[in-house]
Amino acid sequence: MATWLITGGCGFIGSHLADALLARGDRVRILDDLSTGKRENLPARQELILGNVVSSERVEQAMDGVDGCWHLAAIASVSRCNEEWIPSHQVNQTGSIRVFEAARRLGRQGRPIPVVYASSAAVYGDNPALPVAETAEARPLTAYGADKLGSELHARVAAGVHGVGSTGLRFFNVFGPRQDPDSPYSGVISIFARRILDSLPILIHGDGGQIRDFIYVGDVVRFLLRAMERTAPGRAEIFNVCTGGAVTILELAQLLSRLGGQELRIEHGPARSGDIRASSGDPGRAARLLGLRAEWPLELALGQTLAGLAERSQAS
Ligand code: NAD
Ligand code: UD1
Repeated sequence: MATWLITGGCGFIGSHLADALLARGDRVRILDDLSTGKRENLPARQELILGNVVSSERVEQAMDGVDGCWHLAAIASVSRCNEEWIPSHQVNQTGSIRVFEAARRLGRQGRPIPVVYASSAAVYGDNPALPVAETAEARPLTAYGADKLGSELHARVAAGVHGVGSTGLRFFNVFGPRQDPDSPYSGVISIFARRILDSLPILIHGDGGQIRDFIYVGDVVRFLLRAMERTAPGRAEIFNVCTGGAVTILELAQLLSRLGGQELRIEHGPARSGDIRASSGDPGRAARLLGLRAEWPLELALGQTLAGLAERSQAS
């Protein structure tokens, strides 16, 4: 039976990945500091190592004996990383290097442990060539985007110098059940969905004309699983994980209020500094080489997310 490590496995995306691995009968180990993740996102008896991905001791303890590692632990909020520049750099870039280093040291029979890690569409910055392909120049606008790009560069070093195979997935805007609706640092869909269901006004940063490519977490898990199968020693690859579609934040709010059956009330605040104006990805390379495309239509996936949130509110 295969044993896998997920760093950040108590979080939104990581806990869905853990569910998929456990459902197919694999063993899962999780390293998480519970800074944004929650213990209750996991089954009761799931193995959890509480610790910081910046600590070499903890990462090596967690990596020992596994067949592969999905590295998802990070501070995922772009605005929080701008506010907490140095601490977020330590987690988002040094944490990635720790994982590559442990993969090198703890490999068996000279074969490093394969790593699939979360990069981000934030590496592109405001690139006008939409939908943006992996070959486009990376021009991050924020500390978060710079550290994700830095992690990709170190992944290349890990492969070239140390033979560590990795696949970096540039997730666009992921949403779905378990994304925290109560933190201002969480993803926009979970925040809007909760407020709309509670008949509260939503806050749009700027004019609402900013564009995003939203992808459902159920699709993202398929990319994560497939990426591990493809990861090979000495090779560092990068793929967009996106739909190729695009909606404005204002359109998103209107869609959510219609699906939630609630009147939409909007307040506008200042635009966030470093906020990308338009982000939409080209899914072609992943379709060709991973054989995968996003399958969930936006409306259906938003409906699923609203239903999950309403159910959780009733249960609590
Ligand atoms: P999340 O905040 O729900 O999950 C991150 C997890 O990492 C949490 O469980 C948190 O407790 C843990 N963590 C944070 N710092 C840690 C540390 N120092 N040591 C150990 N654990 C730590 O966020 P998510 O949306 O599930 O994001 C997962 C990954 O995907 C992150 O790397 C994020 O940057 C990336 N990503 C997310 C999106 C998105 O739209 N959600 C898009 C692009 C990239
Ligand atoms: C998100 C992810 C980031 C990822 C990136 C990839 C989170 C918290 N952030 O960043 O990890 O790397 O996608 O594309 O998951 N907005 C409002 N009102 C709100 C909240 C947000 O108007 O209450 C706006 C923001 O200004 C932004 C858009 O909605 O223009 C999306 O914001 P957010 O969900 O925070 O995502 P990104 O910053 O795109």
